[in-house]
Amino acid sequence: RIMYSLFGLCAVMLAGCGRENLSALQPKGEGASMLYDLMVISIVIMIAVFLVVIAIYTYVLVRYRKKKGDQDIIPEQVEGNRNLEILWTVIPILLLLILAVPTVNYTFQLADTSEMEAEDSDNYVVDVTANAFWWNFEYQGQEVTTSQDLYIPTGEKVFVNLSSADVIHSFWVPAIQGKMDNNPGDSNVNTIYLETDDEGVYWGKCAEFCGPSHALMDFRVIAVSPEEFDAWLANMKEGPGEPSTEIAAAGEEIFAQSCASCHAVEAGAVGGVGPNLTSFGDREKIAGILEHNSENLKEWIRNPQEIKPGNNMPQFSEDQISDEDLDALAEYLLGLKVSDE
Ligand code: CUA
Repeated sequence: RIMYSLFGLCAVMLAGCGRENLSALQPKGEGASMLYDLMVISIVIMIAVFLVVIAIYTYVLVRYRKKKGDQDIIPEQVEGNRNLEILWTVIPILLLLILAVPTVNYTFQLADTSEMEAEDSDNYVVDVTANAFWWNFEYQGQEVTTSQDLYIPTGEKVFVNLSSADVIHSFWVPAIQGKMDNNPGDSNVNTIYLETDDEGVYWGKCAEFCGPSHALMDFRVIAVSPEEFDAWLANMKEGPGEPSTEIAAAGEEIFAQSCASCHAVEAGAVGGVGPNLTSFGDREKIAGILEHNSENLKEWIRNPQEIKPGNNMPQFSEDQISDEDLDALAEYLLGLKVSDE
């Protein structure tokens, strides 16, 4: 009960960030559940050890304190009680074993990529590249690349190959899985899997200090039913289609001149300097953190450094893109949707 109160307290402290499903203490995935069990075991053992030590300590303080009339200041000295020494050696060993077995078991399960490497594997594999300060997601064999929102089907393992375009980042979706580093270069790619049975939006964070906007390097995992996931993949391949208004069409031209050298609007396009924007209009956040609306988008284009310091997006002043053109650009970008709704 005490344990649950402590966990509850932690949960309350961690909540209030306005991000749903961002707690390792409310696991919704297989990996996160294993980690949660490890936390519970550790805390139960720690509390038990603490209580026993305090009980013995209190007993000794009371039982052997100096009483009125006691002559000797130093009590009788005893050395080497074999039974006691065996006892306090064996108990810690047992406790450590209780911790070690599930820890090692979890570590091996996490690193197990045999399912992905099997010849008849039908698991989705996503190459996740961390950048300053955004995430690129490339679905292997699908010719679908997206950023910031990682769609996964529920009920199956989706393997993620983690790498970085610059410095070390760390990919962490606390409610689904433990964290794992994204290292630069091709030689040190880490692979883990995401698996959850619950549809929903899961917040992800960068968990390795990587620069001024490390704390703003958020992303989302969107778990949908396998049918919805297949539909999403198909829609992504089809793309957002032509702009629906004249203003949006004008925006598309501005995009081609000012933005297209860094941002692709085509699901198969890989490795742009900036995030792929094929389904930009479907997102709920701009740059991972801002509420998704026209005002914020224009603010972001005008002054990205103020919102996410140190990122690689250049700012566009009124001399480069007029207010009128910016309105058109925003309308075009917000219209880039592939969802069925
Ligand atoms: Cu990327 Cu911290």
